Amino acid sequence: MTARIRENVARLSAYVPGEQPADPSVLKLNTNENPYPPSPHVEDVLRRYATDGLRRYPDPASNRLRETIARLHGCGVEHVFCGNGSDEILALCIRAFVERHGKIGNFDPSYSLYPVLAAIGGKDTVPLALAPDFTCPPIPDRYDVPLFFWTNPNAPTSLLSARDPIQTYAERSEGVVVVDEAYVDFARADCAALALSLPNLLVTRSLSKSYSLAGIRLGYAIGHADLIEALFKIKDAYNVNQLTQEMGRAAIEDQEHMRENVRRIIHTRDRLTVALRERDFETLTSQTNFLWTKPARGSAADLFRQLRERGVLVRHFNAPRIDEYLRVSIGTDEQMDRFLAALDV
Ligand SMILES: Cc1ncc(COP(=O)(O)O)c(C=O)c1O
Repeated sequence: MTARIRENVARLSAYVPGEQPADPSVLKLNTNENPYPPSPHVEDVLRRYATDGLRRYPDPASNRLRETIARLHGCGVEHVFCGNGSDEILALCIRAFVERHGKIGNFDPSYSLYPVLAAIGGKDTVPLALAPDFTCPPIPDRYDVPLFFWTNPNAPTSLLSARDPIQTYAERSEGVVVVDEAYVDFARADCAALALSLPNLLVTRSLSKSYSLAGIRLGYAIGHADLIEALFKIKDAYNVNQLTQEMGRAAIEDQEHMRENVRRIIHTRDRLTVALRERDFETLTSQTNFLWTKPARGSAADLFRQLRERGVLVRHFNAPRIDEYLRVSIGTDEQMDRFLAALDV
C-alpha cells in the first residue's frame, strides 16, 4: 500500500455500533430497539411481496410512502424525503449543505455518528459542550456553522431541549439546522411544525425506535421544499428498497399500534427510573426509550462488564465525561425486572 493510500485510509474511523450478540439468551438493552413487534400490517406486506413484487426496481422517489408521511404531518409531498435509515439522511445533509471547508456543529455529548460522517466527508466538527447537568447551553452569538445537528431528545443523555432556543438559533443562522428526532415519539414535544415554517430547519425521524422497524432501515426528513430538493439531487437513485417503502407505509398508517407501544415503553421507563433512583443511581429524566444513569458506587465500566457476564448487555461509552454513565434501553417490564435482578446480585 502506498503512503498516500495509507494516509487517506488512516483519516477514516468507523462508527462503532452497539454489539449484536449471536446468543439469543442475552438480554439486549444496548441499541435502543423496541421490545414489541411492529404493526401486524407490516407482516401482511411481507407475505404479499414474497412472490412477485420484487422483480422491479423500487420507486426512486418513494412517492406513495411520502404521501403517507405528508398526510401524517399535514404537509405536501414536496416537504418530505425518505432515506435508508435516518443515518443516510444525516450523511446526505453533510454532502448537500456543507461547503468544502465548512464545519459541522453538534452538542457534546450527542450522537457519536456525526463526527464519523464529518470525517468521511473530510470535514471537521466544532462541538459545543453541554452544561454539567447535560442541558443545552446558550449558543454563543459568534457561533454559526453551515450545518448544525441538534439531537432532540438528545442521545445518549435522554433529555429534551425546549423549542425556543432551537428556533432562535435557526432564525439567526445562515446555515441549515437539522433537528434529529430519532426518539421524539417518546417525548412530549417536537419540531415538525417548526420545520414546516422555517426555510432552514429540517427534522429527521426514524422508524427504528417507536415503530419497531430498525431492521428495515427507514427514516425520513421534513422541511422546506428547497432543502428536500437538495437531498433529492444527491441521493442514490434507489435509496429506499421497495419492501421497506411498503412496510414503512403500513407501519406509519397504523399510528394507534405505534402509540400503544410507546405508551407501554414510557410506563416501563418511568418505573425503571424510580427503581434506579431508589438504588441511588443518578438517573436523568428521560424523554426517550432509554435511560442515562450513573451507578451509585464503583465505575460504570466495571458494572457494564459485570452485567455482561450476567447476560445483560447495556451501552457504555469509553470517552471522558460520559464514561461514568450507562445507557440502558427500555425493554418490557419482565426484561427490566431481569436487568434489576442482575444489578442487585
Ligand atoms: C440520535 C440518533 N439519530 C439517528 C439514529 C439512527 O437512526 P436510523 O436507524 O433511522 O438510521 C440513531 C440511532 O441510534 C440515533 O441515536
